[in-house]
Amino acid sequence: MDERLLARARELLNRHVPADNLKKHCLATEAIMRALAPRFDADPDLWGAAGLLHDLDYNETKDDMARHGDVTAGILREEGYPEEMIEAIRSHNADNLGIERTAPFGVALAAAESATGLIAAMALILPSKKLADVKTKSVVKRMKETSFARNVDREDIRRAEQIGLGVRDFLDIGVKAMQGTAGELGL
Ligand SMILES: [Fe+2]
Repeated sequence: MDERLLARARELLNRHVPADNLKKHCLATEAIMRALAPRFDADPDLWGAAGLLHDLDYNETKDDMARHGDVTAGILREEGYPEEMIEAIRSHNADNLGIERTAPFGVALAAAESATGLIAAMALILPSKKLADVKTKSVVKRMKETSFARNVDREDIRRAEQIGLGVRDFLDIGVKAMQGTAGELGL
Protein backbone atom coordinates (compact mmCIF):
# COMPACT_ATOMS: atom_id res chain seq x y z
CA MET A 1 0.00 0.00 0.00
CA ASP A 2 1.41 3.38 -0.85
CA GLU A 3 2.88 5.55 1.90
CA ARG A 4 0.51 8.43 1.36
CA LEU A 5 -2.58 6.27 1.87
CA LEU A 6 -1.02 4.65 4.90
CA ALA A 7 -0.34 7.99 6.58
CA ARG A 8 -3.73 9.27 5.50
CA ALA A 9 -5.46 6.38 7.31
CA ARG A 10 -4.45 7.80 10.71
CA GLU A 11 -5.64 11.27 9.74
CA LEU A 12 -8.99 9.90 8.62
CA LEU A 13 -9.42 7.96 11.84
CA ASN A 14 -8.60 11.02 13.94
CA ARG A 15 -11.00 13.16 11.97
CA HIS A 16 -13.99 10.79 12.04
CA VAL A 17 -13.53 8.80 15.23
CA PRO A 18 -13.05 10.62 18.52
CA ALA A 19 -10.57 9.38 21.08
CA ASP A 20 -12.83 6.95 22.89
CA ASN A 21 -13.63 3.27 23.03
CA LEU A 22 -14.53 3.17 19.35
CA LYS A 23 -11.07 4.42 18.48
CA LYS A 24 -9.50 1.75 20.66
CA HIS A 25 -11.69 -0.85 18.97
CA CYS A 26 -10.38 0.38 15.59
CA LEU A 27 -6.76 0.24 16.77
CA ALA A 28 -7.27 -3.26 18.17
CA THR A 29 -8.85 -4.41 14.91
CA GLU A 30 -5.89 -2.94 13.02
CA ALA A 31 -3.45 -4.86 15.20
CA ILE A 32 -5.23 -8.17 14.63
CA MET A 33 -5.54 -7.59 10.88
CA ARG A 34 -1.83 -6.80 10.61
CA ALA A 35 -1.03 -10.02 12.41
CA LEU A 36 -3.39 -12.04 10.21
CA ALA A 37 -2.15 -10.69 6.86
CA PRO A 38 1.00 -12.86 6.55
CA ARG A 39 -1.14 -15.98 6.99
CA PHE A 40 -2.91 -15.01 3.77
CA ASP A 41 0.10 -13.67 1.87
CA ALA A 42 -1.55 -10.28 2.14
CA ASP A 43 -0.08 -6.84 2.73
CA PRO A 44 -0.10 -6.05 6.49
CA ASP A 45 -0.43 -2.32 5.75
CA LEU A 46 -3.49 -2.92 3.59
CA TRP A 47 -5.15 -5.32 6.04
CA GLY A 48 -4.18 -3.06 8.94
CA ALA A 49 -5.72 -0.03 7.26
CA ALA A 50 -8.96 -1.96 6.72
CA GLY A 51 -9.04 -2.76 10.42
CA LEU A 52 -8.27 0.82 11.36
CA LEU A 53 -10.91 2.34 9.08
CA HIS A 54 -13.72 -0.23 9.06
CA ASP A 55 -15.93 1.74 11.47
CA LEU A 56 -15.05 5.19 10.13
CA ASP A 57 -18.70 6.12 9.56
CA TYR A 58 -20.03 4.58 12.76
CA ASN A 59 -20.89 7.84 14.50
CA GLU A 60 -22.85 8.87 11.45
CA THR A 61 -24.58 5.55 10.76
CA LYS A 62 -25.13 3.96 14.17
CA ASP A 63 -28.87 4.70 14.00
CA ASP A 64 -29.12 3.55 10.40
CA MET A 65 -27.02 0.42 10.05
CA ALA A 66 -28.19 -0.10 6.46
CA ARG A 67 -25.67 2.64 5.57
CA HIS A 68 -22.84 1.43 7.82
CA GLY A 69 -19.87 0.65 5.59
CA ASP A 70 -21.34 2.31 2.51
CA VAL A 71 -20.63 5.81 3.85
CA THR A 72 -17.08 4.73 4.66
CA ALA A 73 -16.77 3.25 1.16
CA GLY A 74 -17.65 6.66 -0.32
CA ILE A 75 -14.99 8.42 1.76
CA LEU A 76 -12.31 5.85 0.97
CA ARG A 77 -13.04 5.76 -2.77
CA GLU A 78 -12.58 9.49 -2.91
CA GLU A 79 -9.24 9.12 -1.13
CA GLY A 80 -8.10 6.49 -3.62
CA TYR A 81 -7.98 3.40 -1.40
CA PRO A 82 -7.97 0.04 -3.18
CA GLU A 83 -11.36 -1.42 -4.01
CA GLU A 84 -10.36 -4.73 -2.42
CA MET A 85 -10.07 -2.99 0.94
CA ILE A 86 -13.30 -1.05 0.48
CA GLU A 87 -15.17 -4.27 -0.32
CA ALA A 88 -13.76 -5.96 2.78
CA ILE A 89 -15.01 -3.03 4.87
CA ARG A 90 -18.47 -3.13 3.30
CA SER A 91 -18.66 -6.86 3.82
CA HIS A 92 -18.05 -6.60 7.56
CA ASN A 93 -21.64 -5.31 7.57
CA ALA A 94 -22.79 -7.79 4.90
CA ASP A 95 -26.09 -8.71 6.54
CA ASN A 96 -27.31 -5.13 6.77
CA LEU A 97 -26.06 -4.21 3.30
CA GLY A 98 -27.58 -7.30 1.71
CA ILE A 99 -24.27 -8.47 0.25
CA GLU A 100 -22.18 -11.64 0.59
CA ARG A 101 -19.05 -11.95 2.68
CA THR A 102 -16.89 -14.52 0.95
CA ALA A 103 -13.42 -13.05 0.32
CA PRO A 104 -10.89 -14.02 3.03
CA PHE A 105 -10.13 -10.32 3.57
CA GLY A 106 -13.72 -9.57 4.62
CA VAL A 107 -14.15 -12.76 6.63
CA ALA A 108 -10.94 -11.97 8.51
CA LEU A 109 -12.05 -8.40 9.16
CA ALA A 110 -15.43 -9.40 10.60
CA ALA A 111 -13.78 -12.07 12.75
CA ALA A 112 -11.08 -9.67 13.92
CA GLU A 113 -13.44 -6.89 14.89
CA SER A 114 -15.61 -9.32 16.86
CA ALA A 115 -12.58 -10.85 18.55
CA THR A 116 -11.47 -7.45 19.86
CA GLY A 117 -14.60 -7.27 22.02
CA LEU A 118 -14.16 -10.73 23.45
CA ILE A 119 -10.46 -10.26 24.21
CA ALA A 120 -10.91 -6.80 25.76
CA ALA A 121 -13.79 -8.11 27.92
CA MET A 122 -11.55 -10.96 29.05
CA ALA A 123 -8.83 -8.52 30.16
CA LEU A 124 -11.35 -6.43 32.07
CA ILE A 125 -12.51 -9.27 34.30
CA LEU A 126 -8.97 -10.12 35.40
CA PRO A 127 -7.70 -8.68 38.70
CA SER A 128 -4.95 -6.82 36.82
CA LYS A 129 -7.32 -5.76 33.99
CA LYS A 130 -4.31 -6.20 31.71
CA LEU A 131 -4.15 -7.75 28.26
CA ALA A 132 -0.74 -9.09 29.23
CA ASP A 133 -2.48 -11.53 31.58
CA VAL A 134 -5.05 -12.78 29.08
CA LYS A 135 -4.62 -16.43 28.13
CA THR A 136 -5.91 -17.69 24.79
CA LYS A 137 -7.30 -20.77 26.55
CA SER A 138 -9.61 -18.60 28.70
CA VAL A 139 -10.82 -16.65 25.67
CA VAL A 140 -11.64 -19.91 23.87
CA LYS A 141 -13.64 -21.00 26.93
CA ARG A 142 -15.55 -17.72 27.03
CA MET A 143 -16.47 -18.15 23.36
CA LYS A 144 -18.93 -20.84 24.44
CA GLU A 145 -20.34 -18.82 27.31
CA THR A 146 -22.87 -16.68 25.48
CA SER A 147 -23.76 -14.62 28.56
CA PHE A 148 -20.16 -13.33 28.60
CA ALA A 149 -19.64 -10.24 26.41
CA ARG A 150 -23.03 -11.06 24.92
CA ASN A 151 -22.79 -8.44 22.17
CA VAL A 152 -19.85 -10.21 20.59
CA ASP A 153 -20.91 -12.14 17.50
CA ARG A 154 -19.39 -15.59 18.01
CA GLU A 155 -20.50 -16.69 14.56
CA ASP A 156 -18.28 -14.04 12.94
CA ILE A 157 -15.34 -15.44 14.88
CA ARG A 158 -16.18 -19.05 14.02
CA ARG A 159 -16.23 -18.13 10.34
CA ALA A 160 -12.44 -17.84 10.55
CA GLU A 161 -12.67 -21.60 9.97
CA GLN A 162 -14.01 -20.90 6.48
CA ILE A 163 -10.71 -19.26 5.63
CA GLY A 164 -8.62 -22.02 7.14
CA LEU A 165 -7.98 -20.77 10.65
CA GLY A 166 -9.20 -22.77 13.61
CA VAL A 167 -10.90 -20.70 16.30
CA ARG A 168 -8.12 -21.38 18.79
CA ASP A 169 -5.40 -20.36 16.34
CA PHE A 170 -7.34 -17.32 15.31
CA LEU A 171 -7.93 -16.16 18.88
CA ASP A 172 -4.29 -16.79 19.75
CA ILE A 173 -3.22 -14.46 16.93
CA GLY A 174 -5.77 -11.93 18.20
CA VAL A 175 -4.63 -12.09 21.83
CA LYS A 176 -0.96 -11.68 20.90
CA ALA A 177 -1.69 -8.85 18.48
CA MET A 178 -3.69 -6.94 21.09
CA GLN A 179 -1.04 -7.57 23.72
CA GLY A 180 1.47 -6.03 21.32
CA THR A 181 -0.51 -2.80 21.25
CA ALA A 182 -1.75 -2.83 24.85
CA GLY A 183 -0.25 0.58 25.62
CA GLU A 184 -2.23 2.27 22.89
CA LEU A 185 -5.36 0.37 23.94
CA GLY A 186 -4.92 1.39 27.59
CA LEU A 187 -5.37 -2.22 28.71
FE1 LIG B 1 -16.01 -2.57 14.37
